[in-house]
Amino acid sequence: MNFLELAKKRYSVRSYSDKPVEEEKLQYLLECGRVAPSAANYQPWKIFLVKDDEMRAKLSTTYGRNWFKQAPIVLVFCGDHLTAWKRNDGKDHTDIDVSIIIDHITLAAAEQDLGTCWICNFDAASCSGILNLPSNLEPIAYLSLGYPAKEPEDPSRHLNRKELSEIVHYI
Ligand SMILES: Cc1cc2nc3c(=O)[nH]c(=O)nc-3n(C[C@H](O)[C@H](O)[C@H](O)COP(=O)(O)O)c2cc1C
Repeated sequence: MNFLELAKKRYSVRSYSDKPVEEEKLQYLLECGRVAPSAANYQPWKIFLVKDDEMRAKLSTTYGRNWFKQAPIVLVFCGDHLTAWKRNDGKDHTDIDVSIIIDHITLAAAEQDLGTCWICNFDAASCSGILNLPSNLEPIAYLSLGYPAKEPEDPSRHLNRKELSEIVHYI
């Protein structure tokens, strides 16, 4: 499988089977994330890996979709605004860096036939309370992780992307 095939294989999985994720696969995904690049190599990220039923139930109060409750693992990606690189004009690169580590993990998961879904539409303040996060750590995204329960219902929706002619400007 070349990179384009892998990138097209990944899609947002919103239905999970109860088949457990093997520990070796989990460690492989985390290692794929660990080597992600970041601005100035500051690596301003923390991952809270949630398998525990009680903690997953608490997190599901911050994102109330039924499918989210099924996911056997939830990764909470946090950005550390204290350690992230800031450009001269003050731009904080936390979100960019955290997005890259997440993307590495979503693609590695697809390679391993695992499903993921990015989730940003959660109640971040409640999440911070549940995880007792210090003020410098911002929960940026959840990633649900597990074996997909079924094939995507409409793969064409997943590959519905703008044409290159709409997004690339040769100047
Ligand atoms: C930054 C970001 C935030 C997202 N937040 C959510 C979310 O809160 N809930 C959800 O169901 N999907 C979420 N998604 C998934 C997108 O809806 C999905 O990636 C997009 O529709 C393309 O579909 P695909 O991932 O299947 O290719 C998010 C994706 C990204 C990149």
